[in-house]
Amino acid sequence: MWNVLVVGNGAREHTLVWKLLQSARVERVFCAPGNAGTTAIATNLPFTANQVGAIADWCAANRIDLVVVGPEEPLARGIADVLTERGIAVFGPSAACARIEASKSWAKELLHWAEVPTAKHRLFQDANAAWDAVRRGPFPVVLKADGLAAGKGVVVAQTPAEAQAAIRAALEELVFGEAGQTLLVEEFLAGEELSLLTVVDGRTVLPLVPARDHKRIGEGETGPNTGGMGAYAPTHLADGIGTARLCSLVVEPVVEALAQLGLVYRGVLYAGLILTAEGPKVIEFNCRMGDPETQVVLPLLDDDFAELAFATATGQLARASLTFQEGYRCGVVLASAGYPDAAFATGAPINGESDVDGNALVFHAGTRLNDGQVVTAGGRVLTVVGQGPTLAAARAHAYANAERIHFAGAYFRRDIGAREA
Ligand code: AMP
Ligand code: GLY
Repeated sequence: MWNVLVVGNGAREHTLVWKLLQSARVERVFCAPGNAGTTAIATNLPFTANQVGAIADWCAANRIDLVVVGPEEPLARGIADVLTERGIAVFGPSAACARIEASKSWAKELLHWAEVPTAKHRLFQDANAAWDAVRRGPFPVVLKADGLAAGKGVVVAQTPAEAQAAIRAALEELVFGEAGQTLLVEEFLAGEELSLLTVVDGRTVLPLVPARDHKRIGEGETGPNTGGMGAYAPTHLADGIGTARLCSLVVEPVVEALAQLGLVYRGVLYAGLILTAEGPKVIEFNCRMGDPETQVVLPLLDDDFAELAFATATGQLARASLTFQEGYRCGVVLASAGYPDAAFATGAPINGESDVDGNALVFHAGTRLNDGQVVTAGGRVLTVVGQGPTLAAARAHAYANAERIHFAGAYFRRDIGAREA
């Protein structure tokens, strides 16, 4: 029997804890630091996700068999390397491999070398040079901070004024700190967007069901980007080309290119794709599972996730193949008023979770316990996941249950999955 630690504190991590607890191989699950949802089903630990050394010490002292890392930052800081040195299996790539997300410019070089289709780009460190390159259009144009910026480092500028503001913010006001000192100016790709999450053990690549994530705060894909306001799976957007072909077009060449550099990628490799008129193109790679994609994809997975994660961590995936349930899952994120701006309210009591029906799932993100009462503690508060034989049914189920949960200033988009349903 295994003791497993999940690193992170979002709804993605609550989902990972929930899924791991369904495994016959798992004895106990811990979460560092977790939230009010994970503490109800597992044991929270008082570490932040980035306390890499302290987490590794604790794992070694407490006979942890497997660590599943949720967010990108501890991976970029080398948590997988430190745990591997100590002989602990870890589901998540080394720091060298996590650069695929932590440095967009490095990822671009790798994609070109691997001949994977992606948006054209140029790099700038000087605001005047960047402005010179974009001012005459075409618009929209995409501006991206090179390093990690918690999902907020991308601006799709519709006008010269928006582009100028984004260039100033990144290169002069340094709002993304070091992460933004290099700016990518990228060609805007028009087309449907989808998330292809794959499990990679260094060699074998197994796709999860493709998902669609809604990143903008506003309905109709308007307003600023967020960490993600909802998702559904499976999406049929890529049925024409097929998941297997997408894998061989964009994921397998990257895994091979990394291997040629001596880098063994183990964990989830997540391709963000846009289906353009010229075919699928990569807009980003992430070195981890998506949030909120995880909340809709993992409930569809029939396989034992603990066994899958352990096989991935130990390079033995060739033996596994993945099976998924029929039907659809739709996840709606309930956020605090003011999100994604930094100044959103917290501490509001959350009520109504016990009124949610037994087939719906509620995964916590920014929540904590205050004298036994669950209160809000972050921008994205909960993901409510509905299910059904059709996407329309899964949507209706998610929304019927989201309506039952209340906290002051709760905001959610009403159009998650609407276009494809
Ligand atoms: P990212 O943080 O790279 O996932 O970018 C956030 C969002 O910006 C994506 O989900 C897309 O909706 C949008 N985006 C990023 N790059 C491009 C691009 N080259 N063309 C069009 N939209 C993009
Ligand atoms: N849902 C987008 C992400 O996890 O990056």
